[in-house]
Amino acid sequence: METMIGVIGGSGLYEIAGLEDARWQAVDTPWGTPSDEILTGRLNGVKMAFLPRHGRGHVHSPTTVPYRANIDALKRLGVTDVIAVSACGSFREEYAPGHFLIVDQYIDRTFAREKSFFGTGCVAHVSVAHPTCARLSDVCYQAAQDSGITAHRGGTYLTMEGPQFSTLAESRLYRDVWGCDVIGMTGMPEAKLAREAELCYASVAMITDYDCWHPDHDAVEVTQIIATLTQNADNARSLVARLPAMLGATRAPCPQGCDRALDTAIMTAPAK
Ligand code: ADE
Repeated sequence: METMIGVIGGSGLYEIAGLEDARWQAVDTPWGTPSDEILTGRLNGVKMAFLPRHGRGHVHSPTTVPYRANIDALKRLGVTDVIAVSACGSFREEYAPGHFLIVDQYIDRTFAREKSFFGTGCVAHVSVAHPTCARLSDVCYQAAQDSGITAHRGGTYLTMEGPQFSTLAESRLYRDVWGCDVIGMTGMPEAKLAREAELCYASVAMITDYDCWHPDHDAVEVTQIIATLTQNADNARSLVARLPAMLGATRAPCPQGCDRALDTAIMTAPAK
């Protein structure tokens, strides 16, 4: 199958450079309009699609991001592998601002977002026991290391609704009791929807702050997040630029079965 890499850029990543035949395309979906037009093109001969999660100009809050339209639009364009980049706070002393974490688990604390393509008419229950694609995550980790980024492989992303940051009591609960590694506002339901759409999905958390639990650091502020993201934008771009050569223009079926997730998930009987 022909590879097409979809990059969902978070805060601080609104474009990818160096694409051949680059053009912004409007894609319509039954789930509404995506966050923005999608930048398509080729990098090292591999098809790419880039979508800024919050829209250019950062116009969507984590709650209003049209997650279903975004994932469906990437699927319609032919995307096979999604790399989701997002800014996150850290719950670990050793995961410092500027480091990247390749996430492999989530706790979903969001409550004001549409979370499924399935409901009335067609009911399906996909497994998200392992919500990210191990093959794609390995490639992202390797690309981060090759870019000279301090990267960590594997960790739990607490997705909160926002838009406010956590209270100190919440931050301590997520860190000390639930054992989470990072916190952000956009990881879910994006990862669940990617699985329903049978897309391989890897999550690259760019650590920007220590949230508010850390006794030696001030509570998080947006200005601090933006400053750290700006310093690390080149790292994110370098990681993305390495992916086409590493993934190749054609791709074997996913060993984990991300691309066949619905084979065992649909409850509704086929229409006669
Ligand atoms: N995004 C970046 N830092 C964050 C934090 N501390 N909490 C929630 N979302 C974030």
